[in-house]
Amino acid sequence: MPYAEVNGTRLHIRQNGEGPVALFIHGFPLDSSMWIEQLEDLGSLRRCIAIDLRGFGRSAPVTGAPLTVEQHADDLAAVLDLVSAEQADIIGLSMGGYVAMAFADMYPHRMRSLALIDTRSGADSEEAKAGRDAMAERLLDDGRVAIAEAMESALLGPQATIAVRARLRSMVEACPYETIVGALGGMRDRPDRTAVLRSVSVPVAVIVGEQDAVTPPTEAEAMAVALPDAALTIVPGAGHVAPIEQPEAVNEALRVLLARSSGSVD
Ligand code: MLT
Repeated sequence: MPYAEVNGTRLHIRQNGEGPVALFIHGFPLDSSMWIEQLEDLGSLRRCIAIDLRGFGRSAPVTGAPLTVEQHADDLAAVLDLVSAEQADIIGLSMGGYVAMAFADMYPHRMRSLALIDTRSGADSEEAKAGRDAMAERLLDDGRVAIAEAMESALLGPQATIAVRARLRSMVEACPYETIVGALGGMRDRPDRTAVLRSVSVPVAVIVGEQDAVTPPTEAEAMAVALPDAALTIVPGAGHVAPIEQPEAVNEALRVLLARSSGSVD
């Protein structure tokens, strides 16, 4: 099933493994290929499904409206319906973490465990909101390559290899302009979900790159404190995209999470 028809759109999905479902949600403006190492490694434990969110990767194009994190969460629930899974382990990076927290808010009973990687629970500050709008303007003025160049240095840690840098650039430079603009609007308008964290009753892994300059370890520590049952992992040698920068360390933290959540497998 490389594609899922849900909620009036077509989502591209990658999967590996069998058993209880784990859903992987990529960051901005990336796609499901960022999870290739996790799918390969964790397929022995779960049916791992990485989704290209609405408008991203090989999913159907979008037009116009902001791409809200709540719409993405609804799409994830519809994918779970399609594969007849009542619950899933929900794993999100950065914007994917915002979507995971929206899912935790909207569908708490459908979450077996939660991994929040290089993300934050708070809303955008006024300055950050203005930054979203400025980035949309810059995209149209200077093109996607300018955005990709800026993101490469902002997102990745100083040790990122040329292969990792190339991988990030490929994802950013392949993302459609209208998706970038829609996602910037959706992230700008998302609410603060710190209070949602306090009500999460399943096991949680909070994972962050030691050199993450976008959502630094202080943000991860604050989320871990708000969560009733969280394990915090700070990944050395990684910036904001730890799953591609240090896949082994991230996979190990996810394996521990999946073992903690196995007690509640359907
Ligand atoms: C991401 O990596 O998904 C973005 O940096 C998140 C954001 O811009 O808030």
